[in-house]
Amino acid sequence: MTIAVTGATGQFGRLVIETLKTRTKDDIVALARSPQKAADLGVETRRADYDDAASLEAALKGVDTLLLISSSEVGKRAAQHHHVIEAAKKNAVKWIVYTSLLRADSSTLSLAAEHAETERELKASGIPYTILRNGWYTENYTGSLEGAVAAGAIIGSAGKARISGASRKDYAEAAVAVLTTPGHEGKVYELAGDESFSLEELAAEVSKQTGKAVTYKDLPEADYAKTLEGFGLPAGLAAAIAGWDVAAGEGALYDDGRALSKLIGRPTTPFTQTVKATFA
Ligand SMILES: NC(=O)c1ccc[n+]([C@@H]2O[C@H](COP(=O)([O-])OP(=O)(O)OC[C@H]3O[C@@H](n4cnc5c(N)ncnc54)[C@H](OP(=O)(O)O)[C@@H]3O)[C@@H](O)[C@H]2O)c1
Repeated sequence: MTIAVTGATGQFGRLVIETLKTRTKDDIVALARSPQKAADLGVETRRADYDDAASLEAALKGVDTLLLISSSEVGKRAAQHHHVIEAAKKNAVKWIVYTSLLRADSSTLSLAAEHAETERELKASGIPYTILRNGWYTENYTGSLEGAVAAGAIIGSAGKARISGASRKDYAEAAVAVLTTPGHEGKVYELAGDESFSLEELAAEVSKQTGKAVTYKDLPEADYAKTLEGFGLPAGLAAAIAGWDVAAGEGALYDDGRALSKLIGRPTTPFTQTVKATFA
């Protein structure tokens, strides 16, 4: 059996492969647009660029199971994932596990449309599939906490949104659990943290852990987008991020189904722990 993982050089792909190595004796193939970047993973590497259909067709030779980690190139993803699914068909791949987005079929997050398109294509492909609808990584917030501490504020447009975040490692372990245990074909999992937090609670936790006063400042969507632009983000991305906060305020990042902790066999990582790891 051969299991291949796309996006192997990314943060999620790396965690998956490191964990997979400890859980299976199957052959593991790291797929990357720059295979040299994946060399340290200690598994076979193959070149697979989502934009290059021929590279994907060659890369999937002999692959039984494919973990398709969604591309990071928002706006190009549906077409890129299409290339992967077509290459999988040509190589008679037996099972595709796809990392999607929480409630991709009904979410008000602008990110949902591309995921929903890939899910539809996957279901129509004739290849057995499993869909992992990942909620938000808590790290989406902790990446910018140093700046928030310096400024004394976390800013956003999420209002009192409750965010059922889990660590990237939690979601990666769930992918590995699915890849290495039977009974997941045809299933769609809504994955999120056991507990939720608001940005106000996040700010309070950061204050507690750092001893510096940090508050949550809620901004109108347009003001938040403008502020992000002021930090140097391209206008389109700034607007998208502000929009995600608004969607969060509508409940897009909240889920209490606890399917993630069931899959990994332990509670998900509390956001307080992910905050702690940021300042460690
Ligand atoms: N649930 C969430 O909160 C959340 C947050 C962020 C992202 N995501 C999604 O989850 C995915 C994995 O997350 P992550 O943290 O691992 O993201 P990441 O660290 O940004 O990794 C993205 C991966 O996609 C690869 N990639 C991008 N364009 C490609 C192309 N044209 N051909 C082949 N590979 C390409 C990158 O390759 P290079 O190393 O060559 O750049 C990298 O391996 C992301 O891509 C995104 O779809 C989810």
